[in-house]
Amino acid sequence: MRMVDLIQKKRDGKELTKEEIDFIINGYTNNTIPDYQMSALAMAIYFKGMTNIERAHLTMAMVNSGDKIDLSLIDGIKVDKHSTGGVGDTTTLVLAPLVASVGVPVAKMSGRGLGHTGGTIDKLEAVNGFHVEISNKDFIDLVNKNKIAVIGQSGNLTPADKKLYSLRDVTATVNSIPLIASSIMSKKIAAGADAIVLDVKTGAGAFMKDLDDAKELAQAMVEIGNNVGRKTMAIISDMSQPLGYAIGNALEVKEAIATLRGEGPLDLQELCLTLGSNMVLLAEKAKTLEEARNLLEEAIQSGKAIDKFKTFLAAQGGDPSVVEDLQKLPSASFQYKFEASQDGWITNIVADEVGKAAMLLGAGRATKDSTIDLAVGLVLHKKIGDLVKKGESLVTIHSNAEDIHTVVELLEKSFTISHEKVTPPPLIYDAIY
Ligand code: URA
Ligand code: CA
Repeated sequence: MRMVDLIQKKRDGKELTKEEIDFIINGYTNNTIPDYQMSALAMAIYFKGMTNIERAHLTMAMVNSGDKIDLSLIDGIKVDKHSTGGVGDTTTLVLAPLVASVGVPVAKMSGRGLGHTGGTIDKLEAVNGFHVEISNKDFIDLVNKNKIAVIGQSGNLTPADKKLYSLRDVTATVNSIPLIASSIMSKKIAAGADAIVLDVKTGAGAFMKDLDDAKELAQAMVEIGNNVGRKTMAIISDMSQPLGYAIGNALEVKEAIATLRGEGPLDLQELCLTLGSNMVLLAEKAKTLEEARNLLEEAIQSGKAIDKFKTFLAAQGGDPSVVEDLQKLPSASFQYKFEASQDGWITNIVADEVGKAAMLLGAGRATKDSTIDLAVGLVLHKKIGDLVKKGESLVTIHSNAEDIHTVVELLEKSFTISHEKVTPPPLIYDAIY
């Protein structure tokens, strides 16, 4: 087989076989196929697309390019959740203990990553003593015992995806549905998921800004999952404004604690119940979505959900008393009010600008080597559709620096207040099976 013939085949819009895709991914992973040929292929895929079968083969070829996490010693169906990323997305912190509390095994491998705030691990490290440096054996034992554990990323997962994603980044081929879908799905499958619930975000704060693109990506990922024997479904949810109120690491832990008690922001709670009931259903802990949702609501009301969070923290060295005493979480030296500049209705809160403001405060990493300030961030008091008075606080800025003028400038650009009333955007646009 020659790479040049395969590039030509795709350039001419033909379907590549499993053997051909395996040849490409193996060759690219072990450097026998050079970047320039892989770039040409990525561009051909960008223009000509891939069939559902090709996407499934590409995904599994990338899964097989490196280590695969073996979760077979964990009892039950392991359902993973993946979000395509947004601003102030506190869902994982809520969902993991929530679904674990009704018996769904949550074996979460998590990274740190770049972004407006840290990843799930950074957020949890706001709890004194909590750590994810546990052995694989302890990880498995903890999930069997408590139904929940989180471990740091280890091993060499999907090296083909790592290499190809970096190449796409510099060859203008990131924005291809088959390539994005196979990239995301390969990572979830290599991490050991039996079933997958996807939260595909749409709106200004999302990777897929446009609703139709988000639906197409969701459909593509669901097809891949189901074609390779992993039951997969997707929710399309709104990210035109931040989710919940808190954006920041310790601030989001607080918000998660409130939500696990049934006292959190309604949008965050609703999204968690929607994603969570689909996880419970795929894990076969309920027969219908309605039954699954009832189980989760009951877990919140009875205190089972928040108790599970405490058990989880304590099992990994964290101080569970933070749940009762939120003062034990890191807090910033200064709190400033960002106020409404006029009376009216809030018609827009540009999520990614608010995210940038949180990052400027130090809540997230701009580069791999930046350090995170767990205490800082933003707490919104208003959302789209709310009526406000001039001078009313829209956001509390939690900062460890006295000079916040660049943060304020970003917030000024983010909020639009108008004399005309608007209806808030829907939280959930669609569910794709
Ligand atoms: N996120 C990924 O993991 N892969 C892509 O290709 C795009 C976004
Ligand atoms: Ca939030």
